[in-house]
Amino acid sequence: MIIAPSLLAADFGRFAKEAERISRSGADWLHLDIMDGHFVPNISFGPQVVKTLRPVSRIFFDVHLMCSRPEILLAPFREAGASQITIHVELGDQAVTQLLWKIKSMGLKAGLAVNPPTSISHALPHLEQIDTLLVMTVNPGFGGQSFIYETLPKVQQAAAWRRTRELDYRIEVDGGVNFATAAECARAGADTFVSGTALLGCRNLGAAVKKMRKCVEAAQADGTRQTMLQAATS
Ligand code: DX5
Ligand code: ZN
Repeated sequence: MIIAPSLLAADFGRFAKEAERISRSGADWLHLDIMDGHFVPNISFGPQVVKTLRPVSRIFFDVHLMCSRPEILLAPFREAGASQITIHVELGDQAVTQLLWKIKSMGLKAGLAVNPPTSISHALPHLEQIDTLLVMTVNPGFGGQSFIYETLPKVQQAAAWRRTRELDYRIEVDGGVNFATAAECARAGADTFVSGTALLGCRNLGAAVKKMRKCVEAAQADGTRQTMLQAATS
């Protein structure tokens, strides 16, 4: 499992210190939300800021582009130290195919995100091209929103496709993920958990990351037990 605290919930005046705190917490990835004020109604930060964080830590930089023109940002974010770049399926089939190919050809991991109102079927043609399928569990643009439970069937669908097609992309959830909703997502098949407000709001981030791991593990074990029970009684 991957726990990815989101910098969006950090103190914007202390990004370097916050990135350091996250990388010391035992978290696996640092999630970086890039908003352009057009694709989403908010602006966050750009490649220049991410570049200043790269020397602070070796942690995996999970760059989530909520931007209308990602093609102009791929090279700058690669130079800034991105490990993975995620783009949105709402950009349209043709653009997505080209963007994913460009990201991979730059030697980076490629992610594809699906907004709550968008059908997960739009991701289907791209599954073989991606390393991560990001199921948005809130409408993107702001941290601190409530988890949308109606998105959980998409996580189940993503897990079913992964099984039947023998693929190995990660299933990432993002938005309103706290200790309880992380467990729900894990039960549905998610393995990668972005969390801003719920984690960064904790004084002891290391303990919070550990607690989230425990909640996810317990939910996974529960899922396995139920599957075995079903198999035994059928
Ligand atoms: C939402 C962003 C999320 C955000 C999640 O637009 O994509 O990554 O940081 O924040 P929380 O965990 O506070 O919902
Ligand atoms: Zn995000």
